[in-house]
Amino acid sequence: RQDAKKRVEELRAIVEEYGYHYYVLDQPLVSDAEYDQFFHELLKIETEFPDLRTEDSPTVRVGGEPLPHFKKVEHRIPMLSLGNAFSADDLSDFDRRVRQLVGDSVRYTCELKIDGLAISLQYEEGRFVRGATRGDGTIGEDITENLKTIAAIPLKLKEAVTIEVRGEAYMPKPSFEKLNEAKEKSGDEKFANPRNAAAGSLRQLDPKLASKRNLSMFTYAIGSIEGKEIQSHSEGLDYLQELGFRVNRESKRCETIEEVIHYTEEWVEKRADLPYEIDGIVIKVDQLALQEKLGFTAKSPRWATAFKFPA
Ligand code: IVH
Repeated sequence: RQDAKKRVEELRAIVEEYGYHYYVLDQPLVSDAEYDQFFHELLKIETEFPDLRTEDSPTVRVGGEPLPHFKKVEHRIPMLSLGNAFSADDLSDFDRRVRQLVGDSVRYTCELKIDGLAISLQYEEGRFVRGATRGDGTIGEDITENLKTIAAIPLKLKEAVTIEVRGEAYMPKPSFEKLNEAKEKSGDEKFANPRNAAAGSLRQLDPKLASKRNLSMFTYAIGSIEGKEIQSHSEGLDYLQELGFRVNRESKRCETIEEVIHYTEEWVEKRADLPYEIDGIVIKVDQLALQEKLGFTAKSPRWATAFKFPA
């Protein structure tokens, strides 16, 4: 047993490191077969010695027991939606309103608008403790056990911070195609699109099923954080990456609305090549002090807008 304990610790370190490179950085260090071998060795020892299991072992990714129902979770900071822009003119109008309110020092961050399911992830002292759906923006559902099966969601962060982060869970296009092929073969009803497939996978009560769906996730915002000063949204994204979160690399800081418009036009063409679906571009005022000054309307922030691709 003493040997088993030592081996389990070794294997966890290996599987965590390889998993991080594979699922978070998208830069595998070893082949899938090698990774699976380590993972299964770990799983085997933990099955043989159940007292060696821990809450944050990478093996929790296979999913625990089915739940009777989802609990409700209140979002202390509401999860809002965004206003829309459908054209370059709409973007120029957005920029004009922003400049009127906060002046010309404004900068923007442009990000891909991932077409999945908005989620909130709570970490206490660096440990993943709760994950929830957006719900109506104020009350969501506790889907922690399903989210633990998403390998891109860290169970432990690189710093012992207490933080709530927001992101988008989604089903990659190849996983979606495989899933629908399997549904076709078994005569089950297919999912209409990756978004519905992701939502369906996370809204069912059996984490083992969620685990088989190969979902992924990008984080795009800090909801709240204790004991850290951050000046800008782009700095927040860099920090999320440092903590071990998966952050989309295509985001871009822009000084002018012309640059923003150019970015949106570029992605109208390039989106077909991505391994995941996007339905637009999110444009955010980068400086947090200016975001605060701009504030919110009843439903959405004045400091951000979503450019929607033409259908
Ligand atoms: S920011 C307060 N950034 O789009 C604004 N949202 O209506 C918070 N989404 O349900 C949203 N990718 O889940 C933001 N890079 C991104 C996003 C993104 C996808 C989703 C989000 C929300 C909807 C906005």
